[in-house]
Amino acid sequence: MIPGGAGQVGTILKRALTAAGHEVVVLTRRPAREREVRWDGESLGPWAAEIDGSDLVVNLAGRSVNCRYTGANLRAMMDSRVHSARVVGEAIAAAVRPPRVWLQMSTATVYAHRFDAPNDETTGVIGGAESGVPGYWAYSVEIAKAWERAQERAETPRTRKVSLRTAMVMSPDRGGVLDTLLRLTRLGLGGPIAGGAQYISWIHDRDFVRAVEFLADRDDLTGPVNLAAPDPLPQRTFMRVLRAAWGVPVGLPATRWMAELGAFALRSDTELLLKSRRVTPGRLLEAGFAFDHPRWPQAADDLVRRVRGGLVPHDIR
Ligand SMILES: NC(=O)c1ccc[n+]([C@@H]2O[C@H](COP(=O)([O-])OP(=O)(O)OC[C@H]3O[C@@H](n4cnc5c(N)ncnc54)[C@H](OP(=O)(O)O)[C@@H]3O)[C@@H](O)[C@H]2O)c1
Repeated sequence: MIPGGAGQVGTILKRALTAAGHEVVVLTRRPAREREVRWDGESLGPWAAEIDGSDLVVNLAGRSVNCRYTGANLRAMMDSRVHSARVVGEAIAAAVRPPRVWLQMSTATVYAHRFDAPNDETTGVIGGAESGVPGYWAYSVEIAKAWERAQERAETPRTRKVSLRTAMVMSPDRGGVLDTLLRLTRLGLGGPIAGGAQYISWIHDRDFVRAVEFLADRDDLTGPVNLAAPDPLPQRTFMRVLRAAWGVPVGLPATRWMAELGAFALRSDTELLLKSRRVTPGRLLEAGFAFDHPRWPQAADDLVRRVRGGLVPHDIR
């Protein structure tokens, strides 16, 4: 069962779980395909019957963060996450046969903007108190914390709870993060932004799916888990590797104000480009999870090959 599963990440997960022989139900506000069930993301309804008797719930619902961070959008980002996590908890609490596991999406953005050391779950610094960054960045951290709290507070004693502090999921699908980065790269714009020292944390789509399966199976793991490859890179290196994988030698550097203009034009926000997210998968590695794509050069080659080969059935969900 995947609440919020009709988007980018849900499509990746549903495709993989269906291929593995699972029956997958998606909760969406606009059902259009088979096995999609309507909900509103904030109140209990007939959809809750789908949770009762299901084995695994992976809640991905949340207003896209790829937007201008206006007051209204920030509120929608907060409410869609907190309300959906709360109501999923209510449905699980009310179920006669609750799922074994509830994996709740969270984000690597919960950690502080920093360069000096990686953030794992034990030694990592939660963000919100950094100096020298725009004040509204702290609100993204507040959203992440409230999102996780909504799951923690749910009283679901028969269901194991894990929050997925996920980095950018790199997949060859149209409309995803990689698609945007490759478009910029092809235009010669895939260079360093504002110096490019800020770290990018990422995870290959297949490792994301494998990590979800791993966490679903491991009865000993609860609480926050970082879903990020062990190799976060400064943005300028990350983009240089991607340019090399695509075969574009040049990437024009962009200053902070150019990034502001570009983000404005794309109706996005510079926090996505400028915040340093240096996140490593401490708990996954400790638990024995082995990444198939731990390093970016090899992961980027694989992803570019799949984009070029058209191996992703974009329209099949
Ligand atoms: N993509 C990444 O790399 C990444 C990395 C870390 C974390 N995440 C998080 O993972 C989740 C899924 O990401 P994504 O890239 O798949 O995003 P997406 O394509 O925008 O999909 C998000 C889903 O959330 C649902 N949603 C949006 N607003 C909602 C609301 N007000 N109430 C209930 N549902 C709502 C939408 O469902 P319907 O419109 O079908 O109802 C949509 O299918 C998001 O919460 C995102 O913040 C993503």
